[in-house]
Amino acid sequence: MGEIAFGPTGQGLRQMPENSLQKMRIVSIRSDGIARRKTVFIPLFQSQRLSDLPLIAQFLAQTRRLLLAFAQNQFKGEDGETKSLWLSSSGSSPERIVLFGLGEKTKWHERKEPLVARRMVRHAKAEKIDEFAIALIGSARLFSQNALMAEFEYTKYKERPKSGWPEVKTVFLGVEPRLIAETKKEIEQGVTMGQEVNACRELANTPGSDMTPAKLAAAAIAVGKRTGVKVKILDEPQIKKLGMGGVIGVARGSDEKPKFIILEYMKGLRGQKPLVLAGKGVTFDTGGINLKPEPYMSDMHMDMSGGAAVIHGMAAIARLRQPINVVGLIPAVENMPSGSSYRPGDLLKSLSGKTIEVLNTDAEGRVILADALTYALRYNPALIADFATLTGAAHVALGNYCSALFTNRERLMDPLGKIGRESGDYVWPLPLWDEYLAEIKGTFGDIANIAKQDRYGGAIHGAKFLEQFVNDTPWAHIDIAPRMTAVDSDYLAKGATGVGVRYIVELAKAYPQLNLA
Ligand code: BES
Ligand code: MN
Ligand code: ZN
Repeated sequence: MGEIAFGPTGQGLRQMPENSLQKMRIVSIRSDGIARRKTVFIPLFQSQRLSDLPLIAQFLAQTRRLLLAFAQNQFKGEDGETKSLWLSSSGSSPERIVLFGLGEKTKWHERKEPLVARRMVRHAKAEKIDEFAIALIGSARLFSQNALMAEFEYTKYKERPKSGWPEVKTVFLGVEPRLIAETKKEIEQGVTMGQEVNACRELANTPGSDMTPAKLAAAAIAVGKRTGVKVKILDEPQIKKLGMGGVIGVARGSDEKPKFIILEYMKGLRGQKPLVLAGKGVTFDTGGINLKPEPYMSDMHMDMSGGAAVIHGMAAIARLRQPINVVGLIPAVENMPSGSSYRPGDLLKSLSGKTIEVLNTDAEGRVILADALTYALRYNPALIADFATLTGAAHVALGNYCSALFTNRERLMDPLGKIGRESGDYVWPLPLWDEYLAEIKGTFGDIANIAKQDRYGGAIHGAKFLEQFVNDTPWAHIDIAPRMTAVDSDYLAKGATGVGVRYIVELAKAYPQLNLA
């Protein structure tokens, strides 16, 4: 790949989130030390009693009467219920116990576990509790990761209040003494994950004027310096020379020049075919000449969420020292209307040689990803996975709680779904049948970027379009539009969710074992 040059260095790095990796401490302590902490958090199922919890019993002795009376009279343990009780103001600990209702035990499911840590941290922040102790239930790695995610707040553009931002400085995780060393390691991994998810959210939340293709490239370079991931940036002349007519076409309307970001982490066996990740990097999507109407445009600085997930997913893979080969490809552009914009009806020659008939300039993500997917084939990948805020239609189809999963290997559906469940970045399958391909056949070009006649099934049309550029390489497309922004039940700050980072890490761990035939 002789045409590759190193891109911008230095500029813009100082504003990047590299110096704001979260400071929250999570400390494993002996479970009998919980009672010596100021504030103790206790999760409880409906009808579960405090005396049923062996780890809590140790401090119950001092405070039993108060607690039981209170718990029985005022706390039902309903899902989402929280009850705070003060035990003492004299400095003897614990001063305060907070009960968190988990609802009926029979209605518990796996998606609720990560939310417990988040609820606790959000509660602590709201109540200005800067440290708390809990007896660990479940995995310390998941707890830590989710605690950090809940601690994150996007405050870069706000004036700092005199008293500072409420923050949870320390969480004490009580475990059996023999598990302390092991728990420490799990916490470290969870903290690493949480930090990278939050760094991804920081990038995605950054307004379009401050997160241009050049700034996204600079962020990738900064991540490369911090983690050892190799980063190369192709600039506009190089992108043009390569023949990426899709990237060039979409970028044409903007004053911001496109960048093509390449990340390489090759710590697997020599000759092991890599996992190639592609991420949509539209730093602002106005829709172009097919301008978006008012309510749909203001969130579109987050249209590079897939690209940010690839950058920080790879950062996490490197920091966790996974022995694998992973490549990340991010076409970064801004989609603007202007006198130089690409037009409806334009025919763009993609890197693959296929021409793309542009019927709608707002279906730009697939146009730039087409070139990235073709470029991916150069690496002879074992598997390609792309992450893109591709369609509002995916959001309409699935609602708020999972991304849309497509693959050209049906046997991968189950393992890819499982990766979603285990990572917390949930995915749900949609079909990729050839009936849908017929609807995006080009009239004057090889393939159209939207369905002209029948627009039902827009998420599938997007996926079917992308499939044309992977030849027959095993491939998964994750349309993360439904998870681009947080909803109340996420117990996360408003804005970007960091969707994709956790999925990418679990996918990287799992892919050597997948049956990709
Ligand atoms: N970036 C949008 C999709 C999107 C919308 C993501 C809302 C997250 C939230 C994408 O580029 C787009 O505009 N898609 C169009 C496709 C249509 C023109 C076929 C859409 O979904 O309306
Ligand atoms: Mn668009
Ligand atoms: Zn878009």
